[in-house]
Amino acid sequence: MVNFDFKNTTRIIFGKGAVENAGPVIKDYKGSKVLLHFGGGSIKKSGLYDRVKKSLASAGLEVVELGGVVPNPRLSLIKEGIKICREKNLDFILAVGGGSVIDSAKGIGVGAVYDGDVWDFYTDKASPKKTLPVATILTLPAAGSESSYSSVVTNEDGALKRPLDNDVIYPVFSILDPENTYSLPPYQTACGISDMLVHVIERYFTRELNVELTDRLCEATMKTIIANAPKVLAKPDDYDARAEIMWSGSVAHCNLLNTGRIGDWASHMIEHELSAVNDVAHGAGLAVLVPNWMKYNYKHDPQRFVQFAVRVFNIEENFHNPEETILNGIQALRNFFTSIGMPAALKEIGIGEEYFQKIAEKTKKFDPKKGTVGNFNPLTNNDIVEILRLSK
Ligand code: NZQ
Ligand code: ZN
Repeated sequence: MVNFDFKNTTRIIFGKGAVENAGPVIKDYKGSKVLLHFGGGSIKKSGLYDRVKKSLASAGLEVVELGGVVPNPRLSLIKEGIKICREKNLDFILAVGGGSVIDSAKGIGVGAVYDGDVWDFYTDKASPKKTLPVATILTLPAAGSESSYSSVVTNEDGALKRPLDNDVIYPVFSILDPENTYSLPPYQTACGISDMLVHVIERYFTRELNVELTDRLCEATMKTIIANAPKVLAKPDDYDARAEIMWSGSVAHCNLLNTGRIGDWASHMIEHELSAVNDVAHGAGLAVLVPNWMKYNYKHDPQRFVQFAVRVFNIEENFHNPEETILNGIQALRNFFTSIGMPAALKEIGIGEEYFQKIAEKTKKFDPKKGTVGNFNPLTNNDIVEILRLSK
């Protein structure tokens, strides 16, 4: 187990009716002038917008609205939000929506109190030291941004999608009411499930050897997601199954499952550039890539892949032929993604071979000197292109 220093500062307020707490809790955190940030209208259609406004009004908060966040959130709207926060002297940001809205709110939060260009934070030119407080009301269990220290943003100049990871940007609190997810279309539900499952897979495939507790926590989370996915797709208002999925999404990405181990994350970095090329839903891009990342890499630690197959997908172990067990496990993951309606090939999400080299070049590298990404088996541009070829 590697040394770690674990902290997650986001308070989670979970359950039916939790939205009514939004206004009073913001007041507890000394918020008075709130930027209400949201997406393209799903919250108005579901009625959540009205309930949030009511709660904010009941606490006597001043509210300025900024809607219009699109999936794969854009830097330009973040800059608009920063301007509004400064001009109107706002002191709190409430994001109501999925990962894109939350990530956009985090960008506004750090940008509003910074003298330079907020994009500096996404390109490692500067590191945020403070933020306006950001809280969230989650409507889409997926990205885990409601309790993560990350914000992922697309700069439309050059179509680059980049993460900012910093402890400063943990939301102060997040409200998770599973009923707010009933209105999700099946495809968005499935993309979210795919993303949260891959958040655990990225952490599971580590080169650390003695990580039994976190292996078991990861397996429990993956099995819970896999068991509840068909339930929420069959019955969108199944409260108990929605609750399991919603909490799994946060647990998957709050970094507890990362303690003492070093995750991989190459698939995420490659996928971000798929999304930047063609506005692919993040979870769909991951579903295409991850089984192929596994096929490309399993030889670097076959035993870990056998363990994944046996413990997560209950594959019967062939002791004479570990490779068979591994490939059956990878196929089981592919079958799971297919069963929830995820694509299996890049051509299904509009990404042809002509983009492969460019995607490889644009993928954020963990080791810029060596030009590699990922920790399990650091990948060069050539490796990335090979994985994209396996995925075409
Ligand atoms: O914009 P609205 O109208 O709200 O519609 C959204 C959007 O079109 C819709 N939606 C959300 N909740 C709904 C709903 N529709 C009906 N009912 C509801 N209850 O769903 C669509 C997709 O929303 P989006 O926020 O883009 O999806 P998601 O939550 O999957 O977030 C994806 C973004 O998060 C980033 C991804 O790269 C991507 O940009 N990630 C952020 C991470 C983080 N901050 O920690 C980590 C992740 O790995 C990921 O990279
Ligand atoms: Zn993700």
